[in-house]
Amino acid sequence: MPFTANRRFKANPIIFSAAEGMHYITPDGRRILDGTAGLWCVNAGHCRPEISDAIARQARELDYGSAFQLGHPRAFEFAERIAQLAPADLNHVFFTNSGSEAVDTALKIALAYQHARGETERVRVVGRQRGYHGMNFGGTSVGGNPGHRRPFGNLLASVDHLVHTYNREQTAFTRGQPAWGGHLADDLLRIIAEQGAETIAAVIVEPVAGSTGVLPPPVGYLERLREICTQYGIVLIFDEVITGFGRVTKGFASNYYKVLPDIITCAKGINNGAIPMGAVVAREFIHDALMHGPINSIELPHGYTCSGHPIACAAGLATLDVMEREGLFEGDPELIQYFEDAAHSLKGVRHVLDIRTTGMLAAFDLAPVEGMPGKRSYACHLGAFEKGVLVRSAGDATVISPPLIISRQQIDQLFGTLADVLNSID
Ligand SMILES: Cc1ncc(COP(=O)(O)O)c(C=O)c1O
Repeated sequence: MPFTANRRFKANPIIFSAAEGMHYITPDGRRILDGTAGLWCVNAGHCRPEISDAIARQARELDYGSAFQLGHPRAFEFAERIAQLAPADLNHVFFTNSGSEAVDTALKIALAYQHARGETERVRVVGRQRGYHGMNFGGTSVGGNPGHRRPFGNLLASVDHLVHTYNREQTAFTRGQPAWGGHLADDLLRIIAEQGAETIAAVIVEPVAGSTGVLPPPVGYLERLREICTQYGIVLIFDEVITGFGRVTKGFASNYYKVLPDIITCAKGINNGAIPMGAVVAREFIHDALMHGPINSIELPHGYTCSGHPIACAAGLATLDVMEREGLFEGDPELIQYFEDAAHSLKGVRHVLDIRTTGMLAAFDLAPVEGMPGKRSYACHLGAFEKGVLVRSAGDATVISPPLIISRQQIDQLFGTLADVLNSID
């Protein structure tokens, strides 16, 4: 199983056989409050009839359509809607089947862009420590968890990593963006000095690092990265696989933080996790640079059999309708404030070393059990499950990212349960 301690799972499996709204349902009928939105996917809540019906309708109307030299209406409609949601001139959409494929596609587009404009030496890509960009070869290479790279040999050549932005001493219990740490964007200048800007194609970062424990960007950090990338002709990619589609409000984190990347990657919430899908959204100049050569030439030799799958697009269009109708892209500032207050009310609870929040995202760093990293957060995950709440264990952090339709009462249940569990586990 993916990212699973398989033997432990077999000994004590957690199985969900159904879901509805804010809940998963176990085979024996227990309703579990979903504090994870699946895996940061189900932003509009589970099994929304509007989305399920759109999937069924599309499966009857056009089950599959290749996007190689052919088209179908849903893919273009959906691309158009995503472009409207994305900031500024991020208007060109390339569909993939996952966040990992979106990341590898974005890296390839950045390399192809540099190549197309004659900067053929620009083959290096830069990620960041504690970044997560999926598990294909490109994403694994730029990812910032050495444990994810170690078993797999060489991966991509020519990769560098910026330092991460987390410093507990400086930023513990910050709400939203830490005031400390903006200067860390200048670490890109170190890489530029070491490698030469003329060798660097792209920098990829998550605006909020998600999988490694919800690290909102320090004040000024993203702006400074933008500035340096512009100055040195480096493509800036924001990996919004988690932050896209309402998680941090305003549709995309790029809108929320008002920093314009050249490329956005997204997936997960794109169609409420209902059908595998991801997308890359690129700015006008990236797209235009690739549109050269004879008219019969393939401008970007890249793609997947199921790119723009009609059923995934239908699910996506229905998701956007639901989210727009219910204001879920924008986010409800009062509800988010309530969520943030509830999360930070756990300051002082046993084991809690830090709490970070932004939008409908929260993470609790727990004091690790000596010599057994991750043990306590896993105990927290199991304890919460026993009490009817699903939270995610990520290393020594407990991560919360509920569907955006959560009620105040459910927020109370979520954090109340978490406090009880933390007070009861060793
Ligand atoms: C920021 C980010 N990028 C990429 C991915 C990979 O997405 P997928 O698992 O759909 O391949 C993830 C998955 O969690 C992610 O959080």
